[in-house]
Amino acid sequence: MREQQGDGFLQQLAQQRDPAERISVLAESLHAEESPELRALEKEALSENVPIIRPQTRGLIRCLLEMLAPSKILEVGTAVGYSALVMDTYCPSPCSIVTIERDPERAAKARENFKRFGADRITLMEGDAADILPGLVGPFDFIFMDAAKGQYIRFLPEVIRLLAPGGVLLSDNVLKDGEILASKFAVTRRDRTIHKRMREYLAAISEDERLCTVLLETGDGAALSVRRRGACGQKTE
Ligand SMILES: C[S@@+](CC[C@H](N)C(=O)[O-])C[C@H]1O[C@@H](n2cnc3c(N)ncnc32)[C@H](O)[C@@H]1O
Repeated sequence: MREQQGDGFLQQLAQQRDPAERISVLAESLHAEESPELRALEKEALSENVPIIRPQTRGLIRCLLEMLAPSKILEVGTAVGYSALVMDTYCPSPCSIVTIERDPERAAKARENFKRFGADRITLMEGDAADILPGLVGPFDFIFMDAAKGQYIRFLPEVIRLLAPGGVLLSDNVLKDGEILASKFAVTRRDRTIHKRMREYLAAISEDERLCTVLLETGDGAALSVRRRGACGQKTE
């Protein structure tokens, strides 16, 4: 907000007819990036059309990190390393971060960025998460799922295995700006498989007894799942 609070910003806010859109514009402005280095990286990624977390999602991650003070973090979908560096910058506890990226060009860029930021707590694993996840040893206190949306359902069994009791799984882009809520007939043929798989994923994380899940409108939709420690005094496994 600080930078954007001028007349121009207020006019822009007033021009949004849809109240939900107004809230979104306001909320995004409230989550202005504080670190100049991260702000520059965010700008660079956006200018190169690299899909990175939105400001609201970044705000949510920061709050979760403060709450959890995790010691082990896992990210599926590094891109050029922006969100991993956000976690590295704002995690209040000593932690290690493992992040997975399958695109060689993006992985190389991420590696370069981690070096530039001196982020030696981050380990980049290059390859398909479907191959890498089974070889990882948990538990992780915080898992950020931010890869190809149609693959989340495939990663889920391994992700639950790796999640600590009381640990949090944050899945990004789950509503695709509301498209997932639309009838499958309103979705283009190309997107129908993603639409179907994402609905399956949302059902799976909502119905799995090991998880407690809530859907949020943050960014283009996020799902927050906590691995239950036990129900009614009973332990779950
Ligand atoms: C939305 S971007 C990640 C953005 C990043 N988390 C950020 O906010 O800075 C998703 C990334 O996941 C990667 N990805 C997609 N499917 C993957 C898979 N099966 N295994 C590993 N990486 C994958 C894509 O190459 C892409 O770079």
